Amino acid sequence: MNEKQRLEAQQINQKNSADVKSDTNDNLDRLKNMSSDDLISKYFQTTYEPPNMRKAKKRLKKDVDVHYDFDIPLEMKAIGKGKKFLIRTYGCQMNEHDTEVMAGILTNMGYTPTEETKEADIILLNTCAIRENAENKVFGEIGHLKPLKLENPDVILGVCGCMSQEESVVNRILKKHPFIDLIFGTHNIHRLPQLINEAMFGKEMVVEVWSKEGDIIENLPKVRKGKIKAWVNIMYGCDKFCTYCIVPYTRGKERSRMPEDIIQEVRHLAAQGYKEITLLGQNVNAYGKDLEFEYGLGDLMEEMSKIDIPRVRFTTSHPRDFDDRLIEVLAQGGNLLDHIHLPVQSGSSDVLRVMARRYTREQYLELVRKIKKAMPNATLTTDIIVGFPNETDEQFEETMTLMEEVGFESAYTFIYSPREGTPSARWEDNIPMEVKKERLQRLNALVNKQSAEAMEQYLGQTVKVLVEGESKKDPEVLSGYTERNKLVNFRGPKSIIGEIVEVKIVNTKTWTLDGEMVESAVEVN
Ligand code: SAH
Ligand code: SF4
Ligand code: F3S
Repeated sequence: MNEKQRLEAQQINQKNSADVKSDTNDNLDRLKNMSSDDLISKYFQTTYEPPNMRKAKKRLKKDVDVHYDFDIPLEMKAIGKGKKFLIRTYGCQMNEHDTEVMAGILTNMGYTPTEETKEADIILLNTCAIRENAENKVFGEIGHLKPLKLENPDVILGVCGCMSQEESVVNRILKKHPFIDLIFGTHNIHRLPQLINEAMFGKEMVVEVWSKEGDIIENLPKVRKGKIKAWVNIMYGCDKFCTYCIVPYTRGKERSRMPEDIIQEVRHLAAQGYKEITLLGQNVNAYGKDLEFEYGLGDLMEEMSKIDIPRVRFTTSHPRDFDDRLIEVLAQGGNLLDHIHLPVQSGSSDVLRVMARRYTREQYLELVRKIKKAMPNATLTTDIIVGFPNETDEQFEETMTLMEEVGFESAYTFIYSPREGTPSARWEDNIPMEVKKERLQRLNALVNKQSAEAMEQYLGQTVKVLVEGESKKDPEVLSGYTERNKLVNFRGPKSIIGEIVEVKIVNTKTWTLDGEMVESAVEVN
């Protein structure tokens, strides 16, 4: 794209956010009658900027538009009556929560949910682009859906989520999987009614993927997955641009919801009887940086502590923006739980530098020291990538020693996966797969050991468990999480599902605890 096209795209994106309805309907009309090649060239010249570090860093500093006027057009309010929807969700909590929003919109259009592909009138794949294997899974699933479409041409198949924000993915679907009816991006969820209408009555594949700036749409309906725990977005997007990561390109720039909107949502959830909320963002510690007034995650957490809801968590923390104010507020405890997921990615300052994580090993350790001083019992967990380009054996050993030094109680560990359009994808992926796998195995052995040791400390202790339901393995057993996020299995009456009860730990395993309910258990908020 040249500068002129870039400006054109920006103007279109601004126009889109200013006047969503009329603009896009016109666009869709024009797109409908185009061949897929025309569609690709037209589409990418105007409304779409492919992932590109240089351009993405030039994000507009314009204010984020917040919309409170979402509504389903009258003619679409009953379009799903007697019809069923199925959404398959891949990826992180953001996607899980986006699925709840899409379920909310579809429900408001008259659709009801189903788990059976054969029963569904609309199937959406809410995709993740974080690693290659995540994408492969989705392409596998798209292949599986083809016979279904041949059998029932009326079923609407849609691809949304982070993969749809990638140019190469949209291209591949347009060319190789033309039976897909609908592709829409992470910024287009609120347009689902119009998009479905278009897919139902148009002849061409409907493609709508907007800019990576992003707005905030406040009043979207939601059908939450459970009645006990709930996700609450506090911000969208990411501006960190770690060199390996696709998220800033798929989720747009960092933009915070207004504190009062978040507080109102959490109050509402508390009033509905939810027991735990998790505040969501790719980098929640940057919350508030883009607001016009001084306000940060510490301030928001303080507000959360005043709300009558037993448990408040947040994810994901970025070490860089984890400030003293937040530590001070978290240290007060109450309903703010002291489990902190603090992705470190590597224990080597040199690797961290090329990852553009913006902290060193020493700074990370200093932050851990501060957190532990203020919250002596805090549980720390992390994410780690092994086999980053040029990672030496010595640098990997630094990750191993950091793992021990911090005493992480668990970690999500990943083999580096080059993502097209990110800076590191241009560097040679030069660590042989056997070496990457060997490093991962050694790291995982250490993670398991530390997890098992952390579990052993609970033997004989009584912990508070939020009972979520029957255990996956045995319906006679109940399960739930402790305040520090340990999964506990124990026997008890089904009537306590949704309550917080005291459980004595009688056996420990690597990832779970077995317990016995304390007889006189009553709700212990
Ligand atoms: N925003 C969070 C992480 C979001 S992605 C943070 O910055 O900590 C979740 C995890 O996926 C990351 O922490 C990282 O460990 C991993 N990840 C991201 N991109 C990856 C890639 N290209 N290859 C392998 N792992 C990756
Ligand atoms: Fe990706 Fe997290 Fe880095 Fe953002 S902060 S670029 S989401 S790893
Ligand atoms: Fe995946 Fe997108 Fe989440 S890439 S990890 S679903 S933000």
